[in-house]
Amino acid sequence: MSALQKLAVFVVGFAVAFYFYSTSDKFEPEMLNGKRVIVTGASSGIGEQMAYHLAQMKSHVFITARREERLKQVVAKCLELGAASAHYVAGSMDDMAFAEHVVAEAWKTFGGLDMLILNHIGNTSFGYFDGNVDHIRKLMEINFLSYATMTVAALPMLKESGGNIVVVSSLAGKVPTPFTAAYSATKFALDGFFGTLRHELILQNFNVSVTLCVISFIDTDTAVRVVSKVIRQPPAPKQECALEIIKGGILRKREVYYAYEATKIPLLIRDWAPEYLDSLIRMNYNIENIKNPE
Ligand SMILES: NC(=O)c1ccc[n+]([C@@H]2O[C@H](COP(=O)([O-])OP(=O)(O)OC[C@H]3O[C@@H](n4cnc5c(N)ncnc54)[C@H](OP(=O)(O)O)[C@@H]3O)[C@@H](O)[C@H]2O)c1
Repeated sequence: MSALQKLAVFVVGFAVAFYFYSTSDKFEPEMLNGKRVIVTGASSGIGEQMAYHLAQMKSHVFITARREERLKQVVAKCLELGAASAHYVAGSMDDMAFAEHVVAEAWKTFGGLDMLILNHIGNTSFGYFDGNVDHIRKLMEINFLSYATMTVAALPMLKESGGNIVVVSSLAGKVPTPFTAAYSATKFALDGFFGTLRHELILQNFNVSVTLCVISFIDTDTAVRVVSKVIRQPPAPKQECALEIIKGGILRKREVYYAYEATKIPLLIRDWAPEYLDSLIRMNYNIENIKNPE
């Protein structure tokens, strides 16, 4: 390598390092103080933990899911933890009128919105694809169309506040994994839609950030129940996951990777050695614990 080439490598390396380390990365909990935030899928799992973090940071919290009793309990705990206010509305995200209704209720309650965290998912089958196209359609409505519907309804408020859209996705929304055909399709759809939206908001000079969260196996009750007998890797903690999602949103990051190594390393391998990555992924499953299709 000539001296000039070495210098070029050094300059490019320095520029890349400078770009990554100079972007505003200093999170302070006060950044969420008084922010008006919607969290979907907050009756359990990562969404519930996000509600508690936001409450401790003194945000105004507006949560939704189907189970009203659970939502009431989460709201009560949010108030105990110090939320500026806490509200809920119960219903199902397979109904787009309900998705719009959630945003309308938040507008009535807060008169505006600073952050929209889209996190809910419908019941997901985990196993060989059984040809059930109705399941794909249903999951597309809950995991994807309701996200788009809520975003459309919330955008005027977010443009006004210079706010944040935070989309909780999965490694399965970046890299196909076995036994999650419908779920994976819905998560890939999120990447396409919200990636395009991010471009267009920037091109039109709207100060609304879009953060896509790429999440690995997390220790929520649902995930542990459904996949722990099949996936060899241990789950990462939901509390920390929830905090990283909130941090990424308020810092206006393009993407969040949690757990970092479990998501970032497969993505680095993906474009250079896809067959190798596929074989690594398949080795991560105890397939003897998966039921064969009829
Ligand atoms: N846990 C993981 O290993 C993992 C890995 C990668 C990505 N993620 C992502 O992280 C997010 C949260 O996952 P999680 O593990 O925390 O899930 P979870 O504990 O099962 O929570 C899902 C939430 O969605 C709600 N929900 C379910 N069906 C709904 C419907 N039809 N309408 C409205 N709300 C509905 C549930 O409440 P109700 O039952 O009360 O409606 C619950 O609050 C998801 O986007 C998931 O894809 C999780």
